[in-house]
Amino acid sequence: MSNILRRGRLVSTPDEDIMKFTSSMRSDKWIFDADIMVDFAHTIMLKEQRIIKEEDCSSILRGLLCIREEGIEQLDHTYEDIHISLESRLIDMVGEDVGGRMHSGRSRNDEVATCIRLTLREELLALMEELHALRNTLCSLAAENLKTIMPGFTHLQHAQPTTLAHHLIAHMDALGRDIDRLRSAYSRVNLCPLGAAAFASTGFNIDRERTRQLLGFEGLVENSMDAVSSRDFLIECTAVLANLAINLSRMAEELVIWSTSEFAFIELDDRYASTSSIMPQKKNPDTAELLRGKSGVVAGSLMALITTCKALPLSYNRDLQEATPNMWRAMETARSSVRMMEGMISTIKVNKETMASKSVMGFTTATELADTLVRATGIPFRTAHQIVGVLARENEDIHLQQIDAVADKVLGTKLSSKGLTEEMIYEALDPISNIRKRKVIGGPAFKEMEQAIIRRKRAMKQEDKEIRALRNASEVSLKALIELVEQYTKHVKCDQQM
Ligand code: ARG
Repeated sequence: MSNILRRGRLVSTPDEDIMKFTSSMRSDKWIFDADIMVDFAHTIMLKEQRIIKEEDCSSILRGLLCIREEGIEQLDHTYEDIHISLESRLIDMVGEDVGGRMHSGRSRNDEVATCIRLTLREELLALMEELHALRNTLCSLAAENLKTIMPGFTHLQHAQPTTLAHHLIAHMDALGRDIDRLRSAYSRVNLCPLGAAAFASTGFNIDRERTRQLLGFEGLVENSMDAVSSRDFLIECTAVLANLAINLSRMAEELVIWSTSEFAFIELDDRYASTSSIMPQKKNPDTAELLRGKSGVVAGSLMALITTCKALPLSYNRDLQEATPNMWRAMETARSSVRMMEGMISTIKVNKETMASKSVMGFTTATELADTLVRATGIPFRTAHQIVGVLARENEDIHLQQIDAVADKVLGTKLSSKGLTEEMIYEALDPISNIRKRKVIGGPAFKEMEQAIIRRKRAMKQEDKEIRALRNASEVSLKALIELVEQYTKHVKCDQQM
């Protein structure tokens, strides 16, 4: 049959090159399932509002069920988008007198916005579940490594002793903020633009509340012009994804450097490694490197998306078609990155001895020594900082004698005369006692970290509950919609219509 969209107004047809340039069919694979659900809801509402007859409603729904079963591959890919291709297939199946009624009171503008929001809702849920799993894995590894001592870094230079648990919980908490942001974005994604039609709504007596409810959206994007024009929800989500990807890239970078012979803190499982085509001994952390690299794809997607939306006048503009795939690319990349990170962390081998032995390299206990001088002798911290700085520059071995010699030069007094003892120095230079002393809230002390992990495990249960509740609300509505469709189509056979 001739093109159902162009046959009226337009005469000449675009060639393949033009179609390739203008069509969104390739990225519309993301919204195929959603489009059918949106068609289901809209058709049922049309029937309930007596805009179409019950038997037409049943035939349309049956046709849609068949198209759903056939899958996107069976659709005509020479159409400019999934919506018109799907409608054309439906009309092929049930005839124009029936199928041609489905698009009453609707435009592709509100249709596509609804499809994107519905699909994105499911993607956000899946991502939150995956991210929750990664946070769980980090928390478990931290619990196993409460007493795994390691050097902490600033400027990538050995700084102070800490524990692997302390380090891992830092990443877990950063990813917790990513989940919070996803949850917040979700509430603005889960709103229904359907019924806005092209932008000015419609003169048909449609029921927007009903389609909203059938599709399980929490509310409406009320203003019909805003409903079809705005893509701020895409920008917001992609910005959240960019932040997440950057957080992951920082973890990935550590996995890469911690795997080097210089660090040798960890070993990745072989499944996440590659080898060299020439150097037979090589075990390279390629998955972590790719994760680091792919964060650039997510950040770049945000830039492309935001630039596409810039300065677009209201309401719908075709530019918007170019905006959406950036978000899908960012989503796919972020989700797989989260899964890879979870896999690497859950199979990681930690070299506890190496970490511990390097925890004092580079005089990491210098801060505690300076603090000890302050507490034992009452000298100002700045003076103690100078004394220990000189010691760090000049001495391998640090005992009372060396400290007294430097203090004598700097202060004109020996610190032993002010109460400093050899035992105090010994304790200050011990990494374990360093960590034990750092017991303020959020510090690495074993007892504090134990409590911190207990608090997080409790919070994780709540997080799990909340994600499950969202998942459940979405599933219940979509299941109810399918059941309704099945009721309407009970007596209509698929092949009767073909
Ligand atoms: N493929 C289009 C998009 O993604 C669907 C909406 C088309 N609307 C239109 N007026 N041409 O934005």
